[in-house]
Amino acid sequence: MRVIQWATGSVGKAAIEGILLHPDLELVGCWVHSDTKHGRDVGEILGIDPIGVVATSSIDEILAMEADAVLYSPLIPSRDEVAAILRSGKNVVTPVGWFYPSERDGAPLAAACAEAGTTLHGTGINPGGITELHPLMFSALSSAVTFVRGEEFSDIRTYNAPDVVRHIMMFGGRPEEAMGGPMLGLLSGGFIQAVRMCLDTLGFSSDAEIRTSQEVAVATAAIETPIGVIEPGLVAGQRFVWEAFVGEACVVRIAVNWLMGEEHLSPAWTFGPEGERFEIEVQGDPDTFVTIKGWQPETVAEGLVRNPGVVATAMHCVNSIPYVVAAAPGIQTYLDLPLIAGRAHPDLS
Ligand SMILES: NC(=O)c1ccc[n+]([C@@H]2O[C@H](COP(=O)([O-])OP(=O)(O)OC[C@H]3O[C@@H](n4cnc5c(N)ncnc54)[C@H](OP(=O)(O)O)[C@@H]3O)[C@@H](O)[C@H]2O)c1
Repeated sequence: MRVIQWATGSVGKAAIEGILLHPDLELVGCWVHSDTKHGRDVGEILGIDPIGVVATSSIDEILAMEADAVLYSPLIPSRDEVAAILRSGKNVVTPVGWFYPSERDGAPLAAACAEAGTTLHGTGINPGGITELHPLMFSALSSAVTFVRGEEFSDIRTYNAPDVVRHIMMFGGRPEEAMGGPMLGLLSGGFIQAVRMCLDTLGFSSDAEIRTSQEVAVATAAIETPIGVIEPGLVAGQRFVWEAFVGEACVVRIAVNWLMGEEHLSPAWTFGPEGERFEIEVQGDPDTFVTIKGWQPETVAEGLVRNPGVVATAMHCVNSIPYVVAAAPGIQTYLDLPLIAGRAHPDLS
């Protein structure tokens, strides 16, 4: 299957590495945002040997190419771009949205899919695996489910997007700036879809009420971070929560806990004895608790080079491509596609 990678940020680079190792996939094109990457061999952009695929910043060039799928992972997504790619006859896999869109939100892209006979699939880890797919998978082992949860506990110093961390997430800003900033709204687009997929699939009451919240922790002493020193009183930790309630019962909880380390924070948030992790919980008969380790880097420095959570996000996209190419036209969610699996290392296959 011929694949085009759209954007070579952290997710895009990891995706290209994964495409090159996948037995069914061939990289045939690459769109880049930055002019300095235009015209360069994709291997060179990744810091490996040339691979004979030249990156372009021309959308028209990409749309004119023959390919089975585009892995769309730009920093700032555009619905019009995705529609144009779908109309050009290419399936789209993306970690930026459309995990479980409402009929109204999905309508323009569903129309593009119908016109060209193509498929759109939103996937990743958070939203994606952790927040909806894996809680639903584990719920299959319980009866009478009362609650599901997907939660991230990460050291945000390992997230290699300094401008995003400082100016969009508002780390290092004043608490009122972070609380009034765009982050809760930006995140909610995807995370509320994840909550809805859990509610609908498990069959919780259609009257369930979704509540969102944000909390901040501030530095109590200067904290050295990759985005610069965070001075006392400024934001050094944030928690975003999306919960669904049936009456007073919380039935779905999705949360992210992002800390600039575990020292000098007020409130004195830590990751606890289990450290950085992702957690999945199902309450029913029986209860299930799952802790995922391995998706956070060993050190901040390692994370800034290659973050395993970002690689997992990229691989969920890459590994879904054969299934999405084979799927019926339209927006296809985890609920529509078969089990998506990885592939053996080339040396072992
Ligand atoms: N669902 C999930 O689990 C999940 C997890 C992680 C990330 N994501 C999403 O995946 C996307 C990519 O994440 P990332 O970590 O790879 O981001 P990133 O490294 O910050 O940037 C991605 C790339 O987007 C391009 N870009 C920069 N400015 C742009 C602009 N103004 N308009 C369009 N493109 C621009 C650049 O491509 P070039 O370098 O090629 O020029 C950049 O390298 C984000 O939208 C993020 O929210 C989802």
